[in-house]
Amino acid sequence: MANQQQESLKLETENFLARFDEVIRKDIIYGEKNSVEVDWQQAQSTIWEFFEEHREQCFSLLWETLCSRLHVLTPFEYEEIVKRHPQIRIRNYHETLSMGDLDTSLFGKFTAINCIVTRSTAVLPLLEKAVFTHDRCGKNQTVKQDTAKLKYPVDCEDRATCRQSCRGKWELNLNASEFVNTQILTFQENPEDAKENTNPIRIDIKLPVHLVGLAKAGDRVIIYGVIQPEQQDEKSRVLSFTLDLNNIEVLGENFQFPNISSEDEVKIRKLVSEPEFQGKVVGSIAPSIFGYEDIKLGLALLLFGGVPKTLPDGLKIRGDLNVLLVGDPGTAKSSMLQYVCNLSPRGVFATGRGSSGVGLTAAVVRDKASERFMLEAGTVVLASGGVACVDELEKMNKDDQGNLHEALAQQVVTINKAGIRAVLPAKCAFLAAANPKGGRYDPYRTPRENIDFSPTLLSRFDLIWVIRDEPEQVRDLQVADHMLKAQTRREEVKPPIDVGLFRKYVALAKQIEPKLSEEAQDKIREFYFGLRNQSGGVDAPMSITPRKLESLVRFTEASARMNLRDVATQEDALVAVELLQKSMTQIGFDPVTGKIDIDAVEGRIPKSKKERKEALLNLIERLCDNDLGGVTTVSTILFEAKKTLLMEQKEAENLLDLLHENREILKPREGLYRKVEGT
Ligand SMILES: Nc1ncnc2c1ncn2[C@@H]1O[C@H](COP(=O)(O)OP(=O)(O)OP(=O)(O)O)[C@@H](O)[C@H]1O
Ligand SMILES: [Mg+2]
Ligand SMILES: [Zn+2]
Repeated sequence: MANQQQESLKLETENFLARFDEVIRKDIIYGEKNSVEVDWQQAQSTIWEFFEEHREQCFSLLWETLCSRLHVLTPFEYEEIVKRHPQIRIRNYHETLSMGDLDTSLFGKFTAINCIVTRSTAVLPLLEKAVFTHDRCGKNQTVKQDTAKLKYPVDCEDRATCRQSCRGKWELNLNASEFVNTQILTFQENPEDAKENTNPIRIDIKLPVHLVGLAKAGDRVIIYGVIQPEQQDEKSRVLSFTLDLNNIEVLGENFQFPNISSEDEVKIRKLVSEPEFQGKVVGSIAPSIFGYEDIKLGLALLLFGGVPKTLPDGLKIRGDLNVLLVGDPGTAKSSMLQYVCNLSPRGVFATGRGSSGVGLTAAVVRDKASERFMLEAGTVVLASGGVACVDELEKMNKDDQGNLHEALAQQVVTINKAGIRAVLPAKCAFLAAANPKGGRYDPYRTPRENIDFSPTLLSRFDLIWVIRDEPEQVRDLQVADHMLKAQTRREEVKPPIDVGLFRKYVALAKQIEPKLSEEAQDKIREFYFGLRNQSGGVDAPMSITPRKLESLVRFTEASARMNLRDVATQEDALVAVELLQKSMTQIGFDPVTGKIDIDAVEGRIPKSKKERKEALLNLIERLCDNDLGGVTTVSTILFEAKKTLLMEQKEAENLLDLLHENREILKPREGLYRKVEGT
């Protein structure tokens, strides 16, 4: 290279780094980072070209220039700092790839890759200079370590006195060796990039010391570095990709908006102004599935979500909505989940079975290859900023059940296990599907008995739907028609708003933070107090929780967003109220009193049912006392229950089962009951 050119390049590099003097001061001189991050877009294109052609030289030049900046900024501490070998980290490289783009043509190239950290170890010591002792002569020898595998000495350096310089064993002397910090992270393809792919691409990377502690499991990141092949199994011809890492840029939790052009915005605003627009939105959620308009409206609102708030005292209220679909087999639950996942700009699909090995929340797992404990982010962490869709929730494991409470309410997952402590973000909407306890929903049983989750978990859902598959001629015909249409005349079940535009619409609406108008507040208040009163009364076991009030606010805000309104109106509140009312009627409808039973909605045994159960128990105890053997038969119970309590056979049988399950009565033999002594 011509001298003049070299000089100008030097000058440009100097000018470039001088822009970061403040950061150099903050991070290297006064901070503990020992590295500085530079924005590559602020460099001259001549530096870019030089970097493309002669990367190593360019890094040397950058390093030398950094030293000269340090010399200018802090002449007295200069030597001390340079000894620590501070690093330059590049950010904002020209283009970013996704993991799916990895390809052998990229070997040796500097690249930026958009991905997510799924697993991380705690900080670990990494051997930098290993000292070995030769067992034949007892002398020490130092080997600088720069590969993944431990490098041993080839033979004894002390040829003069050591007679067996190339024989004998080498023992690692840890006390005399030198270490640096490292951490192993697993980087994985972004869930939305890997939708079709059940096995997302992942690579494990041992971090260089200057990147340790920058990122943790669950973080969305851009990693920068040179792509290299890596041998994992010495005998195999198939290698894997790795990165010689230069930088990890942690992206915020912020929703990544798809690009919305002004034309898109015009289209969306026009759509929203049309009279039948809510119908169109609902019609665009899983159009190939017939019916379920209310459920679909709820799902649409879940995509828009409410506004997260931080109260003056620092308390946080989530804005994201949680919805549960409980239902009979084959009622399109999975289909709807999949559709919503695809509609969300950042949707993650998983099943409670966890067949993929990843949990729903987070776990500490032992890595098979390295035998180390790693913190692994689960579905709700990966879905942060989007929607987590979890099918077959009833099959989730015990650990997840515990963590899910926290994830759904506080939107974080806390892990403290095997020396790893972490608080991971889980700011996502949660959509789950589950089958009822016995496989099918039994209307004669309470929701609590049908749904196999703890009441506390249930109370964290803003909306619960029960989907029952009852033969009903008219509807069956319609479903059949619709399904056949979906499969034969596709254009007739096309969504009125296409998927691409819908995503942009959601993104646009999510930028709005609607405030509740006075009228909307009145409406919500009125409904809420109505419910409280219904469950109130002197002998009410417990009343509706204020959580329902928060749900109402969230749905109202979501409706305002759907309408692209800054102020949530009375109509928005009405949408919320009606939706909640419908779902409550459906799951909490008490067939005995004909009212909505709030206890049932909240997952407790309904009041009327409790009374009926007590009455039946008294009857059985009386019958037993009248019998010499102290027992009574099922048929007697059914007969007497009908006569004295006006109780239908189905209800009585159901209560009998419940009493027996609760061990309030004993069943010495099939068809015979006995009371529990001492009661
Ligand atoms: N109302 C409907 N309209 C159109 N298709 C339907 C409807 N209900 C069910 N189907 C179809 O029936 C099939 C089964 O649905 P899906 O697997 O989603 O049910 P599921 O509720 O998840 O059942 P399971 O509880 O057994 O997992 C799907 O192909 C779905 O499209
Ligand atoms: Mg299913
Ligand atoms: Zn020796």
